[in-house]
Amino acid sequence: MMEIPLPAATANPELHPISSKGLPAYPNGWYAIAFSAELPPGGILSRRFMGQEIVAFRTQSGALSVIDAFCPHLGAHLGYGSTVEQETIRCPFHYFCFDTHGVCVSTGYGTKPPPKAVIRTWPVREKHGIILAWFHAQGQPPDWEVPDLDMTGFSPLGWREWTLRSHPQETTENSVDIGHLSIVHHYDDVQVRGDLHTEGPYLNARYGMRRPAPLAGGLIQSIQSEFEIHAYGLGYSYVDVQIISMGLNSRQFVLATPVDVETIRLRIALSLRSITEPGRVHPALKWLPGTLTAPLLNRVLPVTALDGFANDVQQDFEIWQHKVYFSPPILADGDGPVGRYRHWVKQFYCPPRAS
Ligand code: FES
Ligand SMILES: [Fe+2]
Repeated sequence: MMEIPLPAATANPELHPISSKGLPAYPNGWYAIAFSAELPPGGILSRRFMGQEIVAFRTQSGALSVIDAFCPHLGAHLGYGSTVEQETIRCPFHYFCFDTHGVCVSTGYGTKPPPKAVIRTWPVREKHGIILAWFHAQGQPPDWEVPDLDMTGFSPLGWREWTLRSHPQETTENSVDIGHLSIVHHYDDVQVRGDLHTEGPYLNARYGMRRPAPLAGGLIQSIQSEFEIHAYGLGYSYVDVQIISMGLNSRQFVLATPVDVETIRLRIALSLRSITEPGRVHPALKWLPGTLTAPLLNRVLPVTALDGFANDVQQDFEIWQHKVYFSPPILADGDGPVGRYRHWVKQFYCPPRAS
């Protein structure tokens, strides 16, 4: 397929800054800004997001809001010293309180709030333990959603995060870069299960492969794993991983969020489906009562699986952080559908605008 170049330059560099990799830095879409467990009622989090300062807070009743960080009164940063008061966030400087719509509802002096004292809010969603904010370079509202996944029977999310010099298009491209799976991640016998499927902002790819897994006594066995990748835009994707022989199913989230023009916050998270047949996980467990071993496995294995997932993801870091972006790329047989992926990603960028 012919490669169509991404918008290389735009009339408004503030809306469409270009990273030194040559990609527009901030693709439109949903991006993780935190995990739900980080933001209990009364909690406040400060984030750098798309080159801007934002604050997320949760009211005492549990309502969630994401707002610009700077108080419209005299500019205090609401990530430093503010508090949640019932259903509002209170600025530490003059005690102006703002509701979840960003509207000032009271001042520290008991006077009438200035009608213009309104903070910009960001569209926000909370999905199965992940808090996502919507970004659109031209300020348009969300026109697609990430799914409500049924996480019944899965362990609570465990997660890791890093700040990297990369871009969400580059990290998501891993999903279709079949060539690197055996070279960087040492998977064997990678099989493509069906064609890459895309539908609007959704991308689906399926692979089977063999991967090394540790056995007792330091031995390594090669086990067959099935991977199904679901990406919704460039900031949110998850991989359902099945190891059929062991009865293991995990759901692995990859969440890349631009911090500024050059860096992303990469979050990964994992849930493991409850184990009901310990004897399939390890033959030795067949002889022990499942009532004893299953709870133990369900405590230990999600941690082990997250360690393994984090280890796999980190194998990409050095390459991601130092690579540049070539468009069009020079592709070879064995590369996977990188060209089709590059075509799909175009929808997440605003077209160049006339000045
Ligand atoms: S700067 Fe926030 S209340 Fe004055
Ligand atoms: Fe990778």
